[in-house]
Amino acid sequence: MTDRDGETPSLRELAEDRDFLVGAASGGGNLTSDTDHAETLRREFNLVNTQHALKWGPLTERWGDGEPGTYDFGNADAIASFARRYDVAVRGHALVFQRADPEWLRPWERTPARLRELLRTHIHTVVGRYRDDVFAWDVVNEAIDDDGGWRDTHWYDALGPEYVDLAFEWADEVAPGAKLFYNDYGIAGDTAKTDAVYEFVADLLDRGVPIDGVGFQLHALGARGRPDPEDVGRSARRFRELGLDVHVTEMDVAFDADDPPADPLEAQADYYRGVVEACLDAGVEALVVWGVSDRYSWVRNRDHLTDDPLLFDEEYRPKPAYEAVREALRD
Ligand code: GLA
Repeated sequence: MTDRDGETPSLRELAEDRDFLVGAASGGGNLTSDTDHAETLRREFNLVNTQHALKWGPLTERWGDGEPGTYDFGNADAIASFARRYDVAVRGHALVFQRADPEWLRPWERTPARLRELLRTHIHTVVGRYRDDVFAWDVVNEAIDDDGGWRDTHWYDALGPEYVDLAFEWADEVAPGAKLFYNDYGIAGDTAKTDAVYEFVADLLDRGVPIDGVGFQLHALGARGRPDPEDVGRSARRFRELGLDVHVTEMDVAFDADDPPADPLEAQADYYRGVVEACLDAGVEALVVWGVSDRYSWVRNRDHLTDDPLLFDEEYRPKPAYEAVREALRD
């Protein structure tokens, strides 16, 4: 298909025609160091997810020893100004995520009251700074464990389940117009964890906690990580029936390295196509891939997986998966 100028439309043009957001994660550094990265992002995507740039650890200890208050917003600011310049929506990721907490936090040395104060200040600082830039935040990431119970984190230890309510309320205080999400893995299909997270967010809604959406990470890594696209759609519908938005927030697709399909690139394309179609059918508002090109994918550090999980190869050439997403957006 060609557009008016005889050019093939980009993913973002096709997405915009149907009022959909198609996004990629970028941590900011590559936007200034890699022109192909910036150019591909600008051309193909109408949403950027901040990847590691707005996590508490990377924000406060990338340079120097990092004490509370010494933020370095360089990468996040680069994303915000790029997004303004090219009219790209920004998803902020992730305000409360124990795996990304800074080392200086040393929660075991602090009282619950002090931890609460530090978390509140952090959320107010970051959400306040990007109030006009970020339209959706992953407020809490991965609070539920694989069996459906509360994940045992220092936030849960110190503050109990209330830490989730507080995080959403603090974000809402400074950015009442932003969409506030709970984000997790293993909930884009028929699993016990999906049921548990469904109950968890339904309870937040019942109690008036200002949550607007649920993020499905959807790292489709290896046979066990790849829910059937129909199940992804069914799960999205369930959450949407609660009145929540659903975003696919971190999609990538890799296979077990010792048992890949006969044609991995085609199998990958089929899976992307199936998921995008199911999401569009279910009314999902946004789908984000966890990086622009295979070049910087985190999956490259995981030897048991094939190493090319995204839509563009390491030279930024579009892969069959890219064509598949394009077809799904066009149909
Ligand atoms: C999870 C987190 C992300 C990132 C990935 C691994 O999905 O939500 O922030 O850390 O793991 O890259």
